[in-house]
Amino acid sequence: MQKRKAFVVSVERVIAIANLKGGVGKTTTVLNLAGFAAAAGRRVLAVDTDPQGSLTQILLPESGLAGRTLTDAFRERAQSLDGVRQASVLAGVDLVPASLGLDAVLQAATAWTGREYVLLEMLTPHLAEYDVILIDCRPAIDISVTNALTVARWMLVPAECSFMALDGYEYVQTLAHQIQKRINPQLTLLGILPTRYRAGTSHAQASLAEIERQVDEVNPPVRFNPVRLAVAAADAPAYKASLAQFAPSSAVGHDYRDATERTVAFLEGRP
Ligand SMILES: Nc1ncnc2c1ncn2[C@@H]1O[C@H](COP(=O)(O)OP(=O)(O)OP(=O)(O)O)[C@@H](O)[C@H]1O
Ligand SMILES: [Mg+2]
Repeated sequence: MQKRKAFVVSVERVIAIANLKGGVGKTTTVLNLAGFAAAAGRRVLAVDTDPQGSLTQILLPESGLAGRTLTDAFRERAQSLDGVRQASVLAGVDLVPASLGLDAVLQAATAWTGREYVLLEMLTPHLAEYDVILIDCRPAIDISVTNALTVARWMLVPAECSFMALDGYEYVQTLAHQIQKRINPQLTLLGILPTRYRAGTSHAQASLAEIERQVDEVNPPVRFNPVRLAVAAADAPAYKASLAQFAPSSAVGHDYRDATERTVAFLEGRP
C-alpha cells in the first residue's frame, strides 16, 4: 500500500521560538529579534501563542486591543488574521495578541479534527506580507505549541546558560521530531541560542560548552553567539521597548543585534 504523503505545510520565513523549559528567554528573544529586524527595515509579525500573554503585554500599545485576540481567532478557526493582528508599540512590528482565555479554547480544541492546523490556516493569507514571522511559544506540550511547530519552517531554541541547560531543548527536539514525521516534514532546527550568559563564571562557561557541543553534533544552519545576562534586557519590556530602542549600544543589545543579523542573513540568503 502506498504510504500517505505528509502535508507540506511549513513556510520559509516562519520561526517558532520554543523550549519546553520555562524562563529561558523565549519571549525576550522574540521581542528583540522583532525589534532589531524591524529597525533594519524588515516587516515583522510577532505571534503570541502563550496564554500568559507576556509578549502581548509588552507589545500591546497603551491604547489596548484594537480588535480581537488569538483566543477569538482560534475559537472561530479563523481563516485569516483580519481583525486580529494589530500594530504593536514597535514600528514595523505587527502583533497577534494572546489572552488568558486561550487555555480554555485549547482544551476544547483537543477534540477537533485538524486541530494542529488552526494557526497555519489563519496565517496563510498573510505570509507574503512579512519578511519574518516569529511565534512565541509557551513552555509546555499542548496544542498551541503543536500549532506553532506545524506552521513553522524553523525552530529556534533559546537555552539558558545554567544548570541542565539542554533539558528543555531535548524535550522540544523530541516533540519537533514527532511533528516533522507526522505533520510538517520541513520543520528544521534553525539554531540554539545560548541565553542569560553570565560572562566570567565557570558555571556559565561549562553550560555554554555543553550547548556548543550539542550545536557541533546537530550542526544547525545558524550558529549563535551567547546572549549575555544584563539588566537592560529585563528592563526594556517595562518601557514597552526592545533593546533596539532601549539600549542598542549595550552588550546585550549588541548580542541580540548579532543574533538577528545572523537569522535574517540566513533567511534572505536562501533561494
Ligand atoms: N539576557 C538577559 N539578561 C537579563 N535578563 C534576561 C535576559 N533574557 C531574559 N531575561 C529575563 O529573564 C526572565 C525570563 O525571560 P523570558 O520571559 O523571556 O523567558 P521565557 O522563556 O519566555 O519564559 P516562559 O517560559 O515563562 O514563557 C524575564 O524576566 C526576562 O526579562
Ligand atoms: Mg515567554
